[in-house]
Amino acid sequence: MEAFQFYSPTQIIFGRGTEEQVGEQIARRGGSRVLVVYGGQSAVKSGLLSRVLASLEQSGLSCDTLGGVKPNPRLSLVLSGIQRAEAFQANFLLAIGGGSVIDTAKAIADGVANPELDLWDDLWMKKVPLERSLPVGVVLTIPAAGSESSDSAVLTKDDTLEKRGLGSDLHRPRFAILNPDLTATLPRYQVACGVVDIMSHTMDRYFNPITTNQLTDELAEGLLRVVISSGRRAMDHPGDYQAMSELMWAGSLSHNGLTGLGGKKDFAPHQLGHELSARFDSAHGATLSAVWGSWARYCLDADVSRFARFGVKVWGLDPTGRTERELALSAIDATVYFFHSLDMPTCFSELGCGLQSEKELEELTRRCTFFGTRTIGTFRVLDHDDILAIYR
Ligand code: NZQ
Ligand code: ZN
Repeated sequence: MEAFQFYSPTQIIFGRGTEEQVGEQIARRGGSRVLVVYGGQSAVKSGLLSRVLASLEQSGLSCDTLGGVKPNPRLSLVLSGIQRAEAFQANFLLAIGGGSVIDTAKAIADGVANPELDLWDDLWMKKVPLERSLPVGVVLTIPAAGSESSDSAVLTKDDTLEKRGLGSDLHRPRFAILNPDLTATLPRYQVACGVVDIMSHTMDRYFNPITTNQLTDELAEGLLRVVISSGRRAMDHPGDYQAMSELMWAGSLSHNGLTGLGGKKDFAPHQLGHELSARFDSAHGATLSAVWGSWARYCLDADVSRFARFGVKVWGLDPTGRTERELALSAIDATVYFFHSLDMPTCFSELGCGLQSEKELEELTRRCTFFGTRTIGTFRVLDHDDILAIYR
């Protein structure tokens, strides 16, 4: 086991009707002027935004709103959000939505707390460490990105289409309200994207060079089994409370660090996927399912036993009379087949991104290496040629 620290300060408030506590949760943390951030229309249409605003008012809080966050959120909206928050003198950010809204709120909180810094050039490009931010609370409406408990925020710069994340413990929300009923309006496609993303946050930790972490590995395998069975159920029975409960809780645990403690996180499939979202604005989960099978087959020989164990523990494969390689290949097939069963893309053509020419693949690869300045992954370290081979 590698040395680690585990810091997961987000208070999880789970259950039906819990969004009614939102005003009280902010007030008890000293928030008084709240900028409420939300997405397109889902929180307006469902009445959730009005209920939340009523709860804030009841607790005597002043609030302003900023809607219009799009999936794969843009820097430009964050910058106008910072101006809005400054003018309003906000001292607390409340995100109502999923990863895109939460990450926008986190970035606005960073910008307001650091007026002397350039959000992108200084903080997102990691020239200056993040040392202050405003507190953020979350009302989660989609189990997927895990941003409600993660240390990360991911933005896309409008003009260059660079998609980059910034990790900091200051990004961990103060509280997250998880009411599975709030997911009942989710389109099936978004549920499936969420299932893939939740699995990926644990798989991108599980496939790493350290394989001596018994407890961490068992936690990861248990989480994956539950997400697979609940994901199936949620797809077959839309709005199923029990299934969405499991997915919501798993989503928060899958990206708060727990399922990779003592290991060296890999996250290469995420980095491969981010370039596709940046370039084609594809849904995050769909980019992950599109690259995972190719990544896994390419990296298989880095640790065949790991994939074999994954097959036995997660997919319930019977090891009797089978070699490790056979088990490993079946485990990869089972994962790709599962993504298919959720109607998720498992290659570029299914993702519909129309990448065909070698020149386009080369450009995608160059961007994934941050223009020749990095490799990705730890399970197998991938350089430019590896990335190109996987994309191909
Ligand atoms: O905008 P609205 O109308 O709300 O619609 C959203 C959006 O179109 C819809 N939606 C959300 N809740 C709904 C709903 N529709 C109906 N009913 C509801 N209850 O779902 C769509 C997708 O929303 P989004 O927030 O983009 O989804 P997700 O949570 O998957 O977030 C994806 C973003 O998070 C980043 C991704 O890269 C992507 O930008 N990630 C953030 C991470 C983090 N901060 O830790 C980690 C992840 O790996 C990921 O990179
Ligand atoms: Zn993700």
